[in-house]
Amino acid sequence: MRKLLPLIGNSHEGGRSALTCRFRCGNACFHEVPNTSDNEYVGDVIAKAWSRRSMLRTAAVVTVATAAGSAVALGAPGSSATAAPAADAKNASGHGTGDGARGLRFKPVAPNTDDKVTVPEGYEQNVVIRWGDPIVKGAPGFHPDRQTAAAQAGQFGYNNDFLALLPLGGPYERQQLLVANHEYTDEVLMFKGYDPANPTREQVEIAWAAHGLGVVVVQEDHRSGKLTAVTRHQLNRRLTATSEFRLSGPVAGSALVKTSADPSGTKVLGTLNNCSGGTTPWGTTLHGEENFNQYFANAGKVTDPTQAARLKRYGVSSGESERKWERFDKRFDCVQEPNEANRFGYVVELDPYDPHSVPRKRTALGRFKHEGAQPRLTEDGRPVVYMGDDERFDYFYKFVSSKRMMKGDSRAAKEHNLTLLDEGTLYVAKLTGDSPAAEVDGTGKHPTDGEFDGSGVWIKLATAAPTGNVSHVEGMTAEEVFVFTRLAADKAGATKMDRPEDIEPSPRTGRVYVALTNNTDRGKPGKAGADEANPRNANKHGQILELAENFDDPAGDGFAWRLFLVAGDPKDPSTYFAGFPKDKVSPISCPDNVAFDPHGNLWISTDGNQLGSHDGLFGVATAGERRGELKQFLTVPRGAETCGPLIQDKRVLVAVQHPGEIDGASVEKPQSVWPDGPGKIVRPAVVSVWRKDGRNIGV
Ligand code: FEO
Ligand code: CA
Ligand code: CA
Repeated sequence: MRKLLPLIGNSHEGGRSALTCRFRCGNACFHEVPNTSDNEYVGDVIAKAWSRRSMLRTAAVVTVATAAGSAVALGAPGSSATAAPAADAKNASGHGTGDGARGLRFKPVAPNTDDKVTVPEGYEQNVVIRWGDPIVKGAPGFHPDRQTAAAQAGQFGYNNDFLALLPLGGPYERQQLLVANHEYTDEVLMFKGYDPANPTREQVEIAWAAHGLGVVVVQEDHRSGKLTAVTRHQLNRRLTATSEFRLSGPVAGSALVKTSADPSGTKVLGTLNNCSGGTTPWGTTLHGEENFNQYFANAGKVTDPTQAARLKRYGVSSGESERKWERFDKRFDCVQEPNEANRFGYVVELDPYDPHSVPRKRTALGRFKHEGAQPRLTEDGRPVVYMGDDERFDYFYKFVSSKRMMKGDSRAAKEHNLTLLDEGTLYVAKLTGDSPAAEVDGTGKHPTDGEFDGSGVWIKLATAAPTGNVSHVEGMTAEEVFVFTRLAADKAGATKMDRPEDIEPSPRTGRVYVALTNNTDRGKPGKAGADEANPRNANKHGQILELAENFDDPAGDGFAWRLFLVAGDPKDPSTYFAGFPKDKVSPISCPDNVAFDPHGNLWISTDGNQLGSHDGLFGVATAGERRGELKQFLTVPRGAETCGPLIQDKRVLVAVQHPGEIDGASVEKPQSVWPDGPGKIVRPAVVSVWRKDGRNIGV
C-alpha cells in the first residue's frame, strides 16, 4: 500500500527538508521501500559456507595491492599497518586546536547554522562558478528573469554535485578542467510564480537544460588556492537532458532498451540525476545516474505484470511525475514508451578532454540508483569500480574489468581504455558479522569482541564479454541482470544496507570506504532489523564501513570489513570513531560523499544533519595514532548540502548544492541569501577554500 505523501512543510525524518525530498529524489523516503525481497534464505546458505574460521582466515590474509604495488592487511583496530604517516607526538592535544594528523592541522569549525560557508580560522574562500554563469561561447550572462532553455544550455547547470579537477598540461599549466554533475532542479527556487501543477513548456525545457554535466576550464591563482572560471574556453561544454549519449556494453542494442525514437537501442537523449561520480586513471570521468525513477510517470497504469514489478523495484512514480515532463515528451510516460526508463540508471563515462566526444552509458556496471563510481587498478592493471545504490535496504557493488589499462597518451591507448568498462564482471556484496547475532541488539552497543566487523563475499551477477554475455543468476538472462540489477541482487542474497552512497578506495592503503547515510526504517515492523554492518535500528546518523580485499585473486570474491565510524553526537553511546577518544572529535551526521586528500586522510561530506547544525565537510585520519580523529572543516549555508569534495595540496573544493532549499521557500520568499546577498536569487555554486598564508591545506 502506498503511503500518502506529506504536505510541504513537514520535515523528512532523515533530516532533510521536504522540499529536498520532493525535488531531489522524488520523495523516495515517503514511498514504500522498493526492496521487499526476502533474500534471507540464500544469505543463510552463504553465511554457513563462510564459517567463522574462514572469516578469520580472510581477515588475516586479505591483502590489497596499493597503487604503488605494496600490500596491507585489515589489521587490529587502530593498527597503523598502513602507509599513512604516524601522528606527530608533539601535537597530541587534538580537538579544538590546529593540531592533528598531517593534512588535518586546522582548528575545527564548530557546528552552526550560519547562512554562509564557514571555514577554519586562517582560511579564505571564493565562489568559483554559480548556476547560470555562462561557460560556452555565445551563452548570455545570467538573469533570473530572462531565463531561456537556449541560454541555460550554455550556462553552468543547477545543483552542482560531484566535482572532478583534471590537469591541463603544457601551455595551460596553471589551468585545470573542472567537471561537475548537475543533479536536479529546484523549480520553486528557479522560477518566479512556479505552479507545480502546471509547469510551462519553457520552464520544463529550462529544467532539461539545467540537468546534466558541465565542463569548464578554471584558472589557478599563483599566490593562493583561488580558482576562476575561464568562460567561453574551447573545452567548456554542457551536456543536458537532451544531449546525445550512447548505450555501450552488454545492454546496447538489447530489446529491453529499444524505443520508438531509437529502434537501435543505442542512442539515448540525456543523462538525469547525476549524483556523485569518479575520476579514472585513464583521464575520463564517471557520473552516476541516481534517482532517475522520479522523472518517469504512470507506472501504476502499466498492465504487464513483469514490467510493473520491475518499475516498482526501481520506485518509478505510479501516477504523474513531480515535474510533469511526460506532458511535454511522451518518452517520460511508462505506458507510451515502456523501455525509456530502462535507458537511465547507469554510470556515464565522459572524456572531458574531447569536447566533441559522445559520452557513454556503461551498462556493464549495472542499472540502479547509482551514487558514485570510483575506480582503482588491480596489480595487473584492470580497473575495479566500486558503486553504491542509494536507497534504504539496497546494496553495494563492484565491477571488475577483464581488460588491462594501456598506459600513455597514444591514440591507440586512448581508444583501448575507452573499452575497459564494457567487458568484465559485476558483483554485489554480501556481509557476515563475526559476533553472535544476539549481541547486535539494534542500539549500536558493541558486541563482546569490541567491534562491528566480519567478512564478506562478492557475489557474481553477470559477465559482459564479446564472446557472449553470461548470467550468474538463475532465471535471468545477462541482459536482464544488467538492466534489472536490483532484482538480480535480490535473488543473489545481497546484504541490505543503510543507503550505500559514495565509495572510495584509499590511494594509500587500498582499503575501501563505504558511506552509509542513514536508514530510519531499519528495524521497523516488517523491515530488516539491525545486523553487524548496520547495527542501529531507526538509524538517523549513518556509518562508514571499511573493507579490505585481495586483488591478487582475479576472482576477488572475498573481503574483510569493519565499521570505521558510527556517526552521531559523540556523546551518544552508540557512536564510534575508530576507537579515537570521543571527547576529541567533531559531531557528524549522515555521511554521504567521500574523498581522500594527498596525505591519505578521508574527507566526508554530509547530507541531512540531524544534530541541529548545517551540513558540512569533515576530515578524518584513517591510519596512525590519530586514526578516527574527525575534524569539521567547513559548514554550508542554510538548506544546502556539501557535495563533490576535492582536496588538493592548495585547496579544498566543494559544491554547495541546493542552498535555501527549506520548506516553504520560493524565489519570492528565499530562505537563504547565499551566495550574492539579500535581494539576489539563491544560486548553487562551487567554492574553493585555501590558506591565507599560502601554505598547503592542513599541514
Ligand atoms: Fe544524490 Fe545519494 O545523494
Ligand atoms: Ca564483531
Ligand atoms: Ca550524494
